[in-house]
Amino acid sequence: MHQAVFYQVYPQSFADSNGDGIGDLPGLISKLPYLKSLGVTALWLNPIFESPFGDAGYDISDFRKVAARYGTNEDAIRLFQEAHKLGLKVVLDLVAGHTSDEHPWFQSAASDPKSPYREHYIFTGDEPQQSMFGDSIPRTAQGEHFVANFLPFQPALRYGYKHPDPSKPWQLPPEHPACLAVRVELRDIMKFWLDLGCDGFRVDMAASLIRGPGDNTILARLWQGFRSWFDRDYPEAVLVAEWGNPIEAINAGFHIDFLLHFGEPAYTHLVGSPNEIIGNRRVPHVFFERSGEGDIRLFLDNYLKHYSATVGRGYISLPTGNHDFQRPRRGRDLADLRVLYAMLFTMPGTPFLYYGDEIGMRNIDGLPEKEGSMWRTGNRTPMQWEHGAPNLGFSTAPKKRLYLPVDPAKDAPTVSKQLADKASLLHLTRSLIALRRKHPGLGNDAEFRPVFAQSGRYPFVYERGTAATGRFLIAINPAAAPCVVDLPALGQARVLLAEGTKRAGTKLTLAGVSFAIFSLPEPARGRAVSRAS
Ligand code: NOJ
Ligand code: CA
Repeated sequence: MHQAVFYQVYPQSFADSNGDGIGDLPGLISKLPYLKSLGVTALWLNPIFESPFGDAGYDISDFRKVAARYGTNEDAIRLFQEAHKLGLKVVLDLVAGHTSDEHPWFQSAASDPKSPYREHYIFTGDEPQQSMFGDSIPRTAQGEHFVANFLPFQPALRYGYKHPDPSKPWQLPPEHPACLAVRVELRDIMKFWLDLGCDGFRVDMAASLIRGPGDNTILARLWQGFRSWFDRDYPEAVLVAEWGNPIEAINAGFHIDFLLHFGEPAYTHLVGSPNEIIGNRRVPHVFFERSGEGDIRLFLDNYLKHYSATVGRGYISLPTGNHDFQRPRRGRDLADLRVLYAMLFTMPGTPFLYYGDEIGMRNIDGLPEKEGSMWRTGNRTPMQWEHGAPNLGFSTAPKKRLYLPVDPAKDAPTVSKQLADKASLLHLTRSLIALRRKHPGLGNDAEFRPVFAQSGRYPFVYERGTAATGRFLIAINPAAAPCVVDLPALGQARVLLAEGTKRAGTKLTLAGVSFAIFSLPEPARGRAVSRAS
């Protein structure tokens, strides 16, 4: 965990081995050496399980079976084994809060009042329910309403309510045997995959399990229970939350939580496109914007709140992107991404690199919806492997059979082109990850201290590490305008990696869109004492 750097694989869009137009596990296995060469240590795969794919696999109909389009359970086992040979861990997606309405549990529960799975779900009789987006949820064939967790076809699993309303008999307390039975199911699903060799889970909507308003104490207890079980039986395995509130998630026992486009506002003020609605917020300006009108404090104050409350107990992740929001390339070019990655890969916590962000894949706007993608289609397009190859090397299928279209631009970035170009974003990403892994003072655990972080001003400068781990100074200027900063520590600093910066004494001049990473000498305490004596 101390050195972990994750790579997120969107399985259907990563590598297609059999020419059916959809990425699959054998395809992913064939790309493991590439992933190893990036320097990442672990992979997170979006759901690979059997599903009607109404929400791209987040609607599971069999938790224990790999969807045929991705391969077989044997392929998954082979993936774990081959990854482990290369020292890579594999983390699966655990959709803990809901199933598909085609899951046999729900089919049985909805059609038979005596079903053994009846109590796994929350039927509300005549009381209508809404999905997360306010759509009304159709009744079952038997005429009953039920609670859904996200979209109408994703019935919520029953873990109980924080404060059950006595007038609503379906609101059971979390300690009710029916709710505890669902926890046992969830544990058995995790055990199934851990015993086959997976290394942990990213938990979908981890905060959704126990329902209703009120604080999350009981929810935290639920996850702490799973964490104690991990610590006892699978001490090497990792629990990553999709919570968006590291203080809560890490208190609940997760090893890692993200700052994201929803939940706590930090991430939305750092990355995003100006005036974009991210989650439910309109963000007029973000820090990584050439206008220079972003405000680092809007990110940093929230970040520090979570950092100081969790440091030493768990990790915050600032991902480059993910399958639910715009790629960082949206509204930016490759030069901007270089500066963004210089920051994301030198911050504390656990970096997550979304597939294709290492080459700066574009967000492909204007595509029709695919498998419930809604606003999320353009960030899920196929990985761009090879310049000049059919479908840029993703698949040999005819174009119309591809899961989603490949970036049609003439200058679409590809792995092959960027491998051949030492100045490419791919090489920079590798160098940043290598630097982080080489120097404990830049690693996941090392200390973090803002040095220059003023509201409305650029650059952002921070220090990492201690004398024991080595100390580092990082300066980041995403704005188009140059800026100058006086940094007393700069005098004896050694440049490790820099683009567009100049120093004179303690003054650092940063050109527009530039960054620098320095190592700082050990404080010369010993010598100072001997001189004084
Ligand atoms: C969050 C996942 O990241 C998203 O892709 C999915 O649609 C919802 N949870 C529902 O499972
Ligand atoms: Ca395939």
